[in-house]
Amino acid sequence: MSLVTTTEMFKKAYEGGYAIGAFNVNNMEIVQGITEAASELKAPVILQVSAGARKYANHTYLVKLVEAAVHETDIPIALHLDHGADFDICKACIDGGFTSVMIDGSSRSFEENIEVTRKVVEYAHDHGVVVEAELGKLAGIEDAVNVSDEDAQFTNPNEVEEFVTKTGVDSLAIAIGTSHGAYKFKPGQKPQLRFDILEEVGKRLPGFPIVLHGASSVPQDLVKVINQYGGAMPDAIGIPEDMLRKAATMAVCKINIDSDVRVAMTAAIRKYMAENPSHFDPRQYLAPARTAVKDMVSHKIQEVLGCAGKA
Ligand code: G3H
Ligand code: 13P
Ligand code: ZN
Repeated sequence: MSLVTTTEMFKKAYEGGYAIGAFNVNNMEIVQGITEAASELKAPVILQVSAGARKYANHTYLVKLVEAAVHETDIPIALHLDHGADFDICKACIDGGFTSVMIDGSSRSFEENIEVTRKVVEYAHDHGVVVEAELGKLAGIEDAVNVSDEDAQFTNPNEVEEFVTKTGVDSLAIAIGTSHGAYKFKPGQKPQLRFDILEEVGKRLPGFPIVLHGASSVPQDLVKVINQYGGAMPDAIGIPEDMLRKAATMAVCKINIDSDVRVAMTAAIRKYMAENPSHFDPRQYLAPARTAVKDMVSHKIQEVLGCAGKA
């Protein structure tokens, strides 16, 4: 099988009431862990690359790693640019082998977001590539995006039809209370998502795939392992998995997960290092880290996304 776009995946996911996992990739062990899990469970999967990942690992290395995964498995795999900040990075990824790009115009005005998204859509569609855009603003910190809680904004359902019609975009990320990183809610705060907004958006855009960013759940048992073996992560609160399962049965067809994979790898490496202080072969601690990625992704596919057996 070769790399695919998300068109078919999303159509089936929408109709079937499940979601596809979009996992961020930065190195070989992450690509292998994710795709081994997806392959064993016969799940379609999206491997996504951020600007930070391209800077860290280099565009070509990442594309070749993903191509190797395509070669080694027989599941549908899409290669997606996560949070493309402008037309140029989207163009570079479209020209450089990606099958899907996100243009993240969420920090721009509504009109400017439409303008840049439409420009990316025109170029992408001419090249057989699909486009995700974002309306509303998620809180949280990543390499390229840093939005404070005060600046975060829920998506306004009144804007979605005009945005989708004017841009021709293929999927839309919306803000309903998820956020990037490991600290999504303050200690003591009850996690909540605005399902009323998701429902309203679903009504305004029947059959149209919605994307949820910032959807890690930050398992407390893994944070405990990190802290038990020398880490110092403050109390982290993520999105409860039952809320994500519910979203997947609604219009949400793509769920983005990065922080949970980071936490899983870090816990595995810290534990290994603490238990084997004399070891210094990177393969010895990267192998359990890769297994931790695989276990995390298997769990998400089976317990959260519902996409096992849908390849
Ligand atoms: O939402 C974005 C991902 O978590 C990527 O994070 O920009 O640090 O690679 P990054
Ligand atoms: P998390 O930080 O919740 O894993 O979100 C990742 C994400 O949205 C990538 O685009
Ligand atoms: Zn994101």
